[in-house]
Amino acid sequence: MADLKASLSIDGNVIADLPILKGSAGNDVIDIRTLGGAGYFTYDPGFLATASCESKITFIDGDKGILQHRGYPIDSLAKQADYLEVCYILLNGHAPTKTQYDEFKNIITNHTMVHEKLVHFFHGFLPDAHPMAMLCGVVGALSSFYHSDLDIHAADQRMRSAHRLIAKMPTIAAMAYKYSIGQPFVYPRNDLTYAENFLHMMFSVPAEEYKVSPVVARAMDRIFTLHADHEQNASTSTVRLAGSSGANPYACIAAGVASLWGPAHGGANEACLTMLEEIGSLDRVDEYVAKAKDKSDPFRLMGFGHRVYKNFDPRATVMRETCHEVLKELGIKDPLLDVAMALEKVALEDQYFIEKKLYPNVDFYSGIILKAIGIPTNMFTVIFAMSRTVGWIAHWDEMLGQAGQKIGRPRQKYTGEINRKFVPLSDR
Ligand code: CMC
Repeated sequence: MADLKASLSIDGNVIADLPILKGSAGNDVIDIRTLGGAGYFTYDPGFLATASCESKITFIDGDKGILQHRGYPIDSLAKQADYLEVCYILLNGHAPTKTQYDEFKNIITNHTMVHEKLVHFFHGFLPDAHPMAMLCGVVGALSSFYHSDLDIHAADQRMRSAHRLIAKMPTIAAMAYKYSIGQPFVYPRNDLTYAENFLHMMFSVPAEEYKVSPVVARAMDRIFTLHADHEQNASTSTVRLAGSSGANPYACIAAGVASLWGPAHGGANEACLTMLEEIGSLDRVDEYVAKAKDKSDPFRLMGFGHRVYKNFDPRATVMRETCHEVLKELGIKDPLLDVAMALEKVALEDQYFIEKKLYPNVDFYSGIILKAIGIPTNMFTVIFAMSRTVGWIAHWDEMLGQAGQKIGRPRQKYTGEINRKFVPLSDR
């Protein structure tokens, strides 16, 4: 197999014999690295058929609806492990023993506080600032607190940065929320689980401790787990590209946060809820489904469709279950959730969505769960960013640990002017 080659010919002349490389699963790749020497670049805007790196972290088969982290299927992880165990697996490549898990949990728990000086950063924001803006800025600022740990070529320092980021993201995220509603920041509690602690920092106030429901904590943990990593998506690729220049981990994660913010990526769960609010009532569902199908209307059903999953999103399957569990447990009656369920039904039965293989994705259900828990809509993407931090940092660490790692530098098909005569401003 190592010798199998793809021959590229132009006008009958072979210009390159390109090696075909095999992974352990998924599509083989054609190694085009020498093609530039033959005077050609490949052209793939949007990376529809480009493998940008070699990775051992996450495998996706979009046609079969498979998602595995380090070889472990996502539904087993979501149902049988907790988020910190999944973090350990993503970072270390294997499931931990009980001792390894306890040690890891201890390390993360002991890094949850942030430097008091970091608190001042929040006061520079207007109270109505989007919490993603705060997250982006404050995470980038973390690099100024850890000068001694910024040698990206030292594996132990990279791992310490990973632990710090996983531990501090919930604290920073909850601070962004508290700041935006004018409540005092709530410090982390080490006797709680990762999910419980986040809910505590979000909803406790000095006058009253928030009582965490086990169903809600489990749903929160599942949301974290189901968003932990997703191969080379836009934000992970952004983190890798930023990291390839040698930038520090906090700056790279801030770049990931920025990339995640958009409605086609992490912003979809927020956009989905905004859309449900716009639809407002059951009698308008058909009108919006028609809008989504209308080619001349840019409107899309947010929370539907996926670049890679063209059959079903395996994360959505688990999330759907959890969603119904949470709604039942909390006995929530919300007209918006009725609209969501009606939309799910119509879209699953509508020929347009069936033909285009557009199914509810993970963020359709996570948005509904988060709303039911009482998390404000503008925090949805922040929670996605918190959960995905482990994936980003695992990919960053993997890339920097690989021999011969190069700065990411794509080329282009240039279609602009050339060789224009420049006329000085005074003569124009
Ligand atoms: N509603 C209506 N039509 C849609 C939708 C939608 N949500 N998504 C795709 N289509 C149509 C699209 O108009 C196109 O039709 P045609 O072939 O006739 O031109 C066709 O389906 C293919 O769409 P595409 O934009 O070429 O597909 P893509 O793979 O580039 O986009 C996507 C994937 C996720 C950006 C897109 O489906 C979308 O915008 N969905 C809504 C946003 C969303 O929910 N994003 C979250 C993704 S899951 C979280 C994550 O991993 O970040």
